[in-house]
Amino acid sequence: MRVDKDYIRAKQDRLTEQIITMPASTHILVTGGAGYIGSHTALALLQAGFDVTVIDNLSNSSDESLKRVARIAGKAPRFVKADIRDREQLNAVFGMQPVNAVIHFAGLKAVGESVQVPLRYYDNNVAGTLRLCEAMAEHGVFTLVFSSSATVYGDPATVPIREDQPLGTPTNPYGRSKLMIEQMLTDLAASDARWHVALLRYFNPVGAHESGLMGEDPNGIPNNLLPYIAQVAAGKLRELSVFGNDYPTADGTGVRDYIHVVDLAEGHLSALNALKARPGVSVWNLGTGQGYSVLEMIRAFELASGKTIPFRIAPRRAGDIAMCFADASRAEIELGWRARRRLKAMMEDTWRWQAGNPEGYRTKP
Ligand code: NAD
Ligand code: WQD
Repeated sequence: MRVDKDYIRAKQDRLTEQIITMPASTHILVTGGAGYIGSHTALALLQAGFDVTVIDNLSNSSDESLKRVARIAGKAPRFVKADIRDREQLNAVFGMQPVNAVIHFAGLKAVGESVQVPLRYYDNNVAGTLRLCEAMAEHGVFTLVFSSSATVYGDPATVPIREDQPLGTPTNPYGRSKLMIEQMLTDLAASDARWHVALLRYFNPVGAHESGLMGEDPNGIPNNLLPYIAQVAAGKLRELSVFGNDYPTADGTGVRDYIHVVDLAEGHLSALNALKARPGVSVWNLGTGQGYSVLEMIRAFELASGKTIPFRIAPRRAGDIAMCFADASRAEIELGWRARRRLKAMMEDTWRWQAGNPEGYRTKP
């Protein structure tokens, strides 16, 4: 793998914070809005003055997240418990009040599970998105922001990864479902000029709202690195397994581009704003442009939490790649957005959420 040494992030410092302007009556439908990224985005939308409806079947979340959103925002999003695969339920939602745009988070995301039950992933993610697009078109809604993933790049030939780099081969059905949806939405927008679609390729979302009231609440034992570390710090898990220390990286452990979930949420508002003037499909990486190794993440979390994270080196995890981080310049130039929160804030906010909510959203306030 080639690392572009000339890649300079200094230009980010020139960026001034973008102000999102939308008429107060703009109504956004957020699918999967009770989940981790969706709830933080629903909050950002409410705080920016949007009218928000969330639909979620609560298959991987609880509506407690939306109660916390309401507590922070001082107003609640409208919530409809519904499945995006159910056309009748979708018709009812679109029929309630005109929708200006849809931000589409709803989907299943557990990589390992997708290998065990691939059809569930293709049904929820691909067929679910198809049903959603049909309902949107039927109700005259043609603006869609879609949660894609850096997983569509597969094992990248070079880093940092640019949006125009050839897409790779995702190593699992979850990743393939994201790639299929990207292709489906691209075909759809090519067939009908009314569509304005954003494909947002997230890198590794982490962190929590700075209030400590909202965060990631995985079911059972976490698959992802940071929730796992946080639960080790809290004493819920004994030690972290570091999956491989023989990668071609500085310290041998995997390198990823971790992005604070609140920065990510703000990126959706910027994309929504930009889509007004962008028919067709627009693709943006949402990352920081900075990679950190697993060992760097452990050290940073120890510093932020004051806890020691016991770990042992374990074999590589199947399907993992050595390095993945974004060239985030397209979003900076075209959206006027960049991730502002650094690793320290990601760690401190994660720890505040974990320490204050040991049982996640099941913790009694
Ligand atoms: P999440 O599981 O917390 O949120 C997804 C939400 O969608 C959940 O609340 C779930 O109940 C809901 N949902 C699932 N299937 C549904 C259906 N058929 N109908 C209605 N609701 C349904 O996950 P997240 O981390 O917030 O991820 C949001 C989106 O971003 C997903 O599409 C995911 O694939 C994508 N993404 C996530 C990451 C990540 O690491 N978290 C990275 C890249 C992309
Ligand atoms: C990060 C690093 C692991 C856990 C996954 C999905 C991807 C996207 C984001 C949705 C890697 C190492 C991890 C552990 C470890 N999701 N690790 N011990 O694999 O980059 O991406 O989530 O689109 O599609 O694949 O994230 O947090 O699982 O791993 O050493 O217990 O931490 O090997 O280097 P990943 P992750």
